[in-house]
Amino acid sequence: MGLRQVAWRTCYELLAARVRQPEWAFMNYGFARDEPTAARLHLESVDEADRYCIQLYAHVLDGVDIGGADVLEVGSGRGGGASWMSRYLGPRTTTGLDFAASAVALSRRERRGPGLTFVRGDAQALPFDAESFDVVVNVESSHCYASMETFVSEVSRVLRPGGHLVWADLRDAVDVATTREQLASSGLVSVRASDITEEVLHAMRLDDARKAGLVRDWIPRPFQAAFRPLGGLDGTRNPQEMAAGTVRYLSETLVRVR
Ligand SMILES: C[S@@+](CC[C@H](N)C(=O)[O-])C[C@H]1O[C@@H](n2cnc3c(N)ncnc32)[C@H](O)[C@@H]1O
Repeated sequence: MGLRQVAWRTCYELLAARVRQPEWAFMNYGFARDEPTAARLHLESVDEADRYCIQLYAHVLDGVDIGGADVLEVGSGRGGGASWMSRYLGPRTTTGLDFAASAVALSRRERRGPGLTFVRGDAQALPFDAESFDVVVNVESSHCYASMETFVSEVSRVLRPGGHLVWADLRDAVDVATTREQLASSGLVSVRASDITEEVLHAMRLDDARKAGLVRDWIPRPFQAAFRPLGGLDGTRNPQEMAAGTVRYLSETLVRVR
């Protein structure tokens, strides 16, 4: 494992081990259209606080029906996304996988849903048989991986023919074309590719006060300054570079054709 991967693993291990609040269920930047006429996603009141983070999952799954499907989420974090999918979208099974043991433990303890389970594992060596899943979901996690090609090859292996990879993450603008090539490197065929930087930035602005409050209340004081960039709070590198165009937030849906 490279140094970068060790750093990410340590960071996510510490976060779930030290910040155990079950109400903190998501770790993504969110998605919101800046259009008053945009259809409003139905959510129960218990999920309303996580609206923007959930809308990012709804965006990546747009056009992919997971009713009755076996779904794998790679990089499931604190389990909020896998739980939402299992409770709202009717998959047969939902498996959340993460390499942070503390995040998997927190998810097992706190998240409930029909057919929902969590396992520890590495995106680059998925602990599943070939052709085990109909859909693989990957949200804001792949920037941590040492090899995007190895991850995509593993996804292609565990997907059934006709199955989908739905993906979203941020990248430096200079790496966008390479990332699109990496996603197609194992024969998966792209059926939708979008640049959602504007929608993610809009969500970050709408959700900034809430997230800043959570950092103030939940992150131990000595770590708050270091955590602000990870949370993408106002004035930190990612929202600034996204606004400047030097970092882009991308999404893509790919299908395993055979
Ligand atoms: C920014 S969080 C996103 C979590 C979740 N998808 C969400 O939207 O709330 C990234 C997650 O990816 C996980 N991760 C990073 N590298 C991984 C790897 N090689 N294998 C599995 N999980 C990994 C981290 O532990 C972390 O929980």
